[in-house]
Amino acid sequence: MFIDLVRKARSHRGFRQDRPVTRQELGYLVECARYTPSARNDQVLKYYLANDPETVARILPLSKWAGALAELHLPRKGAEPAAFIVICLDSMLAENPAPYQRDVGIVAQTMLLAAAEMGLNGCMIGSFAAGQLRETLNLPETMKPQLLLALGAGTDRIVLTDVREDGKTTYYRDENDTHYVPKRTPEQLILNK
Ligand SMILES: Cc1cc2nc3c(=O)[nH]c(=O)nc-3n(C[C@H](O)[C@H](O)[C@H](O)COP(=O)(O)O)c2cc1C
Repeated sequence: MFIDLVRKARSHRGFRQDRPVTRQELGYLVECARYTPSARNDQVLKYYLANDPETVARILPLSKWAGALAELHLPRKGAEPAAFIVICLDSMLAENPAPYQRDVGIVAQTMLLAAAEMGLNGCMIGSFAAGQLRETLNLPETMKPQLLLALGAGTDRIVLTDVREDGKTTYYRDENDTHYVPKRTPEQLILNK
């Protein structure tokens, strides 16, 4: 069932080091993104693909992971992602990025689902130093990084739970490093009974 893939496509913040992500695999993810809906069909998003360890190591310190678990400093040393896709807005095609934020979400989730189907995992990273990233990747000033997609073979143990009556949605970990992600229930989500 499709829902199994959606459930599998969790945000992982630790990755195996013996499973590289190839340029071909990254290209396939862009191929998937290419066919997604786009506001006015403007297709203003472009992609920087990074899978060599040196470039990945330059991107990583510019990204912020798991703000709610900052004390864990994820990803841990030796559990770094194998690749990044930097989703950029080409400002030569659109000056104002605001109308295209939905496009960013659509391509990111499509790529994450495709990765999950390939046995890979990832994490969307919206918290990163966009200016420094553009500089370190030698991207032109017109190319505006919007979102990072970190990729690799994930190692996190993740359990989905229901949001309880206290309404808390913050993810958390127990002493065994199991990562819990509360999700609102259908009863909490559907407005009309
Ligand atoms: C637009 C967007 C931006 C995100 N940015 C970050 C981020 O900067 N760092 C991070 O560790 N996770 C980030 N995440 C991942 C969320 O924290 C994650 O989706 C949430 O904890 C729920 O976990 P799940 O994806 O497994 O359902 C982001 C997710 C989305 C959709």
